[in-house]
Amino acid sequence: PEAKVMQGPLAERHVIVTSGPTHEPIDPVRYIANRSSGAQGAAIAAALRDLGARVSFVTGPATVPPPDGVEVIRVETAREMRDAVDAALPADAAVMAAAVADWRVTNAAQKKMKKDASGKPPALEMTENPDILAWISGLKKRRPGLVVGFAAETNDVIENATAKRLRKGCDWIVANDVSPETGIMGGAENAVTVIREDGAEDWPRMGKEAVARRLAEAIAGAIG
Ligand code: CTP
Ligand code: CA
Repeated sequence: PEAKVMQGPLAERHVIVTSGPTHEPIDPVRYIANRSSGAQGAAIAAALRDLGARVSFVTGPATVPPPDGVEVIRVETAREMRDAVDAALPADAAVMAAAVADWRVTNAAQKKMKKDASGKPPALEMTENPDILAWISGLKKRRPGLVVGFAAETNDVIENATAKRLRKGCDWIVANDVSPETGIMGGAENAVTVIREDGAEDWPRMGKEAVARRLAEAIAGAIG
């Protein structure tokens, strides 16, 4: 059988998408994680695929299944995610939609931790995880031509996200307000502001698939 030839503005382009939460073990039965269904990341991967891109979809343990027609690389922890992204390079663009746990337990127990008679909970020592977005943005030779990050904020959204774009060194930040009164967190819709070097653009509230299509089209406009 012939190899499938992808057509569209992103044909022959390779895009890495991270998605879902990461799980950081405490012991063999417990972990620390972020809230993330993986819905927005999966929709972005599908939209990029629909424009003809070859997509490496690096996903933590999400509740939403990965789309068809993309290369799925399943990981658990932030460090595994970083290594999987590294192995997937080079790429024309990278979209970091994962909700990466900021910290991991320094020495995860190899055996299940047991309650003891004193009733005292364990003290967990934590270490910061690698920042995958900052790392890929700072690559010299292998940096993708376009790096897109996300910023889920509960307050001062534009201010925080603008600072985050500069701190991380990425090209675009897709910012959203996830404060409880918006009802965005865990829902089917999203209302984002896309922050670039030349300013911020508010997109109206729409379904996550529609956000994904619009973002994929913007990416095609930048690298297609
Ligand atoms: N990100 C990442 N690796 C990390 C943490 C975050 O790649 N270890 C990426 C996310 O996928 C997202 C962007 O960085 O695209 C912003 O994540 P966010 O949690 O908002 O940023 P932080 O720098 O962790 O800041 P905060 O203290 O607000 O959590
Ligand atoms: Ca974070």
